[in-house]
Amino acid sequence: SFHDFDEIWLFGYGSLIYKVDFPFIEKAPASIIGWQRRFWQGSDDHRGTPQRPGRVVTLIQSALDECSGMAYKVTQDVFEHLDYREKNGYLRYEVDIYFKGLKSENIKNAEYKKGVVYIAHEDNAAFLGDASEHEIALQIHRCSGPSGHNRDYVFQLAEALQALGDKDEHVISIERILKQLNRSV
Ligand code: BEZ
Repeated sequence: SFHDFDEIWLFGYGSLIYKVDFPFIEKAPASIIGWQRRFWQGSDDHRGTPQRPGRVVTLIQSALDECSGMAYKVTQDVFEHLDYREKNGYLRYEVDIYFKGLKSENIKNAEYKKGVVYIAHEDNAAFLGDASEHEIALQIHRCSGPSGHNRDYVFQLAEALQALGDKDEHVISIERILKQLNRSV
């Protein structure tokens, strides 16, 4: 299995893109195929509280989509730290990580490596699931937790994705609604 190696690639698509509080050997922009980022996971430990959970991203399966992010070459011991940080519903899965400017049509020639991604599935206790982007933004607007305000998570993620050249419509529209809500208070 992929656990037999000392070094392994970790794919980050959420806070792991901008909050790198672990050592890594190398990093590179990358993407994974068949997945889409969604604010469907509840956060009662980082961006909300048990009484008022915030919303953070997880991945949902979507055959035709490509989710971009940052890949980090790490050593196995990093997972002890991250398993604790992401203990609120996320589990590790094996995934093919594609490097360099993949656009879905060149997938046949693209270079990829096996790696790991953290995903929160709908069977975890903190999962919230689908809601309109307006409802999601309203919930985020009202929440904060030990890691800070939930809206700052969205702003930091949106900025990090923009720096990667990614145009994630779900993240961009939730960011836009949050900025409108901030102006109207
Ligand atoms: C990520 O950026 O990949 C990530 C961050 C927190 C939890 C799960 C995944």
